[in-house]
Amino acid sequence: MQTANQTELKKTDDLAGNAVIRVEDVHKYYELGETRVHALRGVSLEIQRGEFVAIMGASGSGKSTFMNMLGCLDRPSSGRYLLEGIDVSKHDKRALAQIRNQKIGFVFQGFNLLARTTALENTELPTLYAKIDKAESRKRAVEALALVGLADRMEHFPSQMSGGQQQRVAVARALVNRPAILLADEPTGNLDSRTSVEIMEVFQDLNDKGLTIVLVTHEHDVAQFAKRVLVFRDGKIRKDDPVLHRPKAAEVLKTLPTLED
Ligand SMILES: Nc1ncnc2c1ncn2[C@@H]1O[C@H](COP(=O)(O)OP(=O)(O)OP(=O)(O)O)[C@@H](O)[C@H]1O
Ligand SMILES: [Mg+2]
Repeated sequence: MQTANQTELKKTDDLAGNAVIRVEDVHKYYELGETRVHALRGVSLEIQRGEFVAIMGASGSGKSTFMNMLGCLDRPSSGRYLLEGIDVSKHDKRALAQIRNQKIGFVFQGFNLLARTTALENTELPTLYAKIDKAESRKRAVEALALVGLADRMEHFPSQMSGGQQQRVAVARALVNRPAILLADEPTGNLDSRTSVEIMEVFQDLNDKGLTIVLVTHEHDVAQFAKRVLVFRDGKIRKDDPVLHRPKAAEVLKTLPTLED
């Protein structure tokens, strides 16, 4: 027979199983010679599968520090981070790199594409480290590019594409290993407003297909396309609200002038 305590434990396990991300009282310190920056000051949070979260907050409030931890690029100084129920907060660099490759897709403000490499080859890159055979890699890259609406640009080099198209290649590249979450730090930071909405259309589409997304943005209008908005201040979460009356990016695009107009 189970005691009350065991039942309680089991419940917690089940919950942890559902949460893609579970962060428990995380602190992050950066040591810089004599000075110590306290970048995260007790952050706790759960994100369930299928959520679409936007993170806002002033410059220096800890958004990128938090995203780098979620993306297994860095570890918390204290507290725990569970990714799909696995405590990765104590993993060493090598183990983090492996988890990152399997579970995380990352998109940055600068698209970080290789210049002398086609859209298709850029998209295929992460599969090189994932022990996937050539034919399967190609197939996945083609699928990922189709998902972001670039089926007709596969052989283009970055210099032959617009900023929005380059960012879509970066999104396709982030998806090619079929990650559990897509993390994006200021993905529309270098894009004009119409192109930003186009990227948000891609994100909403992917989220509708079940992908969990966390994105950082300075722009309130961009954050409104997500389902939930967190606001960071001084290394803490100060607000955590659902988005009411969320616009569909595809609809908003119809109201915006195109380049040809
Ligand atoms: N590698 C680092 N070494 C030392 N201090 C750092 C490092 N990275 C960030 N910091 C400091 O940690 C704090 C949080 O920085 P972070 O980059 O997370 O802010 P942010 O919210 O992403 O800001 P922005 O909106 O400007 O991108 C800042 O005070 C910053 O100076
Ligand atoms: Mg930042």
